[in-house]
Amino acid sequence: MTNVCRPPKVAIIGAGFVGSTAAYALMLDGIVSDIVLIDANKEKAEGEALDLRHGLQFVETSSITFGTDFRLCKDADIVIVCAGAHQKKGETRLDLIQKNTAILKDIIPKIAKENRDCILLIVSNPVDVLTYAALKYSKFPKERVIGSGTVLDTARFRHLIAEKAHVSPKNVHAFILGEHGDSEFPAWSSANIATQPMDNFKGFTTKEKNILFEQTRKAAYEIISRKGATYYAIGLVIAQLVRAIMGDGNAVYPVSTLMDGKYGLKGVCLSVPCVLGRSGVIRQLEIPLSAKEKSALKKSAAVLKGYLKKV
Ligand SMILES: NC(=O)c1ccc[n+]([C@@H]2O[C@H](COP(=O)([O-])OP(=O)(O)OC[C@H]3O[C@@H](n4cnc5c(N)ncnc54)[C@H](O)[C@@H]3O)[C@@H](O)[C@H]2O)c1
Repeated sequence: MTNVCRPPKVAIIGAGFVGSTAAYALMLDGIVSDIVLIDANKEKAEGEALDLRHGLQFVETSSITFGTDFRLCKDADIVIVCAGAHQKKGETRLDLIQKNTAILKDIIPKIAKENRDCILLIVSNPVDVLTYAALKYSKFPKERVIGSGTVLDTARFRHLIAEKAHVSPKNVHAFILGEHGDSEFPAWSSANIATQPMDNFKGFTTKEKNILFEQTRKAAYEIISRKGATYYAIGLVIAQLVRAIMGDGNAVYPVSTLMDGKYGLKGVCLSVPCVLGRSGVIRQLEIPLSAKEKSALKKSAAVLKGYLKKV
């Protein structure tokens, strides 16, 4: 970790929908002083930076810098990777994996050359494969390479449960785990609302729970089919993860990290609940899972290992 007396700084690689919305959410949150936007498209980074800068009067953030040069990452506490292509019509998931892995192969060594002490927060998709790639290309310790994983899916899931149960999402404790993608699964066996098991609430029969999870899993597709991209909620997720790390408060989030034996899994990055702090991932939590959930987690790991083999 870099010098903690310096004002907190984050660099965002990729000033597209997600990167620039994350910068805006970070400005509103107020935990970091300096935000850097790096994009291969300088005009785009410049346009976003100018627009954001005009709001500096109203927030605690003191500077927004931009450019194409990775030297701007120097001294950043956290470097957030939001660069990458979307899945285009007719393109397979594997095409996207290959395209975005190639982008990471280019940018991660450039980040690591300028800043060997930062925490890497990977957001670009497929986030679990890219988190693993970032770990390999950076050669950083595993605690400092974190994927946003299923934090967004979990937020969507908690929102839907909260809406149905007429409680605040803040009082819903439930995780989506595994891959951030099609093989993810809901950990219903540990889900609760203010310590009450889900079964104590109306509207949570097996059938209704299945529908609720399907809505969670398909949420991104629903949004993309209407407006082309998702960025507000992921922007807030990024700001929360930065706050969790910089604030050093041991907050728990289901981020994607390298599995090193917990849950019987190794050699793959996926989401399980993790305690976050100033040094990155402090520990992975091994929460109780039902037999069905254990097998879903293993299946998710196998799907991701299959992708890793192909790239
Ligand atoms: N993990 C999540 O929960 C989550 C949620 C939403 C989106 N995403 C992912 O975030 C990524 C970005 O999405 P978006 O909507 O912002 O896309 P976007 O196309 O709006 O932005 C991507 C930006 O990356 C830049 N870029 C591409 N290659 C680069 C390189 N080599 N160096 C620097 N910049 C480069 C582009 O110029 C562009 O500005 C996608 O992979 C998307 O799937 C992840």
